[in-house]
Amino acid sequence: MGAKILQGGMKAQLLSRLDNRTACIGVVGLGYVGLPLALEFARVGFRVIGYDISEGVIAELKSGRSHIQDVAAADVAELVKSGRFEPTADEARLRDMHAILIAVPTPLAKTRDPDMTFILAAADAISRHCHPGLLIVLESTTYPGTTRELMQPKLEAAGLTVGEDVFLAFSPERVDPGNPTWNTKNTPKVVGGITAACTELAAALYATCLDTIVPVSSTETAELVKLLENTFRSVNIGLVNEMQIVCDKLGVNVWEVIDAAATKPFGFMRFMPGPGIGGHCIPLDPHYLAWKMRTLNYKTRFIDLASEINSEMPAMVVERVAHALNQQRKPVNGSHVLVLGVAYKKDVDDMRESPALDVIQLLEEQGADVAYHDPYIPSFSESGRRRESVGLTELELTRADVVVIITDHSSVDYQLVVDLSRVVVDTRNATARLSPRRNVSVAPEPAPSLAIA
Ligand SMILES: NC(=O)c1ccc[n+]([C@@H]2O[C@H](COP(=O)([O-])OP(=O)(O)OC[C@H]3O[C@@H](n4cnc5c(N)ncnc54)[C@H](O)[C@@H]3O)[C@@H](O)[C@H]2O)c1
Repeated sequence: MGAKILQGGMKAQLLSRLDNRTACIGVVGLGYVGLPLALEFARVGFRVIGYDISEGVIAELKSGRSHIQDVAAADVAELVKSGRFEPTADEARLRDMHAILIAVPTPLAKTRDPDMTFILAAADAISRHCHPGLLIVLESTTYPGTTRELMQPKLEAAGLTVGEDVFLAFSPERVDPGNPTWNTKNTPKVVGGITAACTELAAALYATCLDTIVPVSSTETAELVKLLENTFRSVNIGLVNEMQIVCDKLGVNVWEVIDAAATKPFGFMRFMPGPGIGGHCIPLDPHYLAWKMRTLNYKTRFIDLASEINSEMPAMVVERVAHALNQQRKPVNGSHVLVLGVAYKKDVDDMRESPALDVIQLLEEQGADVAYHDPYIPSFSESGRRRESVGLTELELTRADVVVIITDHSSVDYQLVVDLSRVVVDTRNATARLSPRRNVSVAPEPAPSLAIA
């Protein structure tokens, strides 16, 4: 009876702290997900402590700079100066937090199994400093069961009962970098707790600064929601990539087919083919689910097939480059190839898992001399080699035997590209509205027997 009153008291105390903005909110991991989230809470009047193990990230933020493209440095500077946002690399500050959101990386190991080291390290740090009344919400994308099977035991090993002394939930992050319409604040937030009290508290926390909260019945449900969303994207991208292959073989323009299909006002959703998938989510997240299901003796066939097709796309791009060179009576070996765009998608400065890396590697394996231009990525290092973006100049465009568009950044002058290049392989249909574009290849030449008049 006494414990129940205490539990009710703790819940009420945190609800009251959230209501009057006296709760100290902690964010663990200040990257693409954690930093915008931390600032949302600071904006509505909470004191926010952002904890990150990277001294470099903390130094940047403390001096009022932003390392995340969608977060304005002025916003960071203002909130740091006002004292409402405190970036720190000092783990002991976890002790001062009333609610902690975890947004650390969840990469894949080389074997394509989940790499849980970051989540485990964050959970260990929290368990070293946790105290009764604390709410912890995991936001990192992960397999169903992580919150209950990995996080809960860490907290209970510290002598605290989840749902009574401390509260634990999962809430998937849905940030879409570069999206001008949907941001952290206006994207609905799914929340599932270990107990009903955990869900209630986590929902109350997010309701202080986000527009719409969607409570679900368990942490496993919330974890699976995220994986369904990204598996849905991966499978549909796999389908249109296969449609691209189908269209190439039939000599039909895939973009025209998609545009026409998208005029159907119901039952069709537009997805675009491309040179392969990239970013931190779509190529990785479905493998978390596939791995979990393997442990239950189930093979996720859609996930595996989509992954197989999507990962073959860079090789298809290289085939098209070889075809374009062949038409000029040139081999890939020794040819100059200019890759336009190495970010994983348009208008972002992130090249994690970018298919451009595979395209460049495959071309170089065949002896091509590859340069790149990307207004968002001035330089990058891969396999110990540093590369720098070349200017989009007349010299570079005319020097290239073939220009291959991998990422269709909005700021690139595609008319200039088409006007000056010998041949352009356009994997994004970025040149669709230009004219004339006789030197643009959006698909290999159809087999003569299939050529459409
Ligand atoms: N980037 C996206 O678009 C996106 C979208 C939805 C979901 N997610 C998911 O959100 C999670 C975070 O992704 P991200 O893109 O923000 O990653 P990120 O690499 O941009 O940032 C992660 C931060 O966590 C820090 N960190 C690592 N271990 C830590 C620890 N033990 N304690 C404190 N800080 C630690 C790192 O230094 C880094 O600054 C991942 O699970 C990812 O799959 C990402």
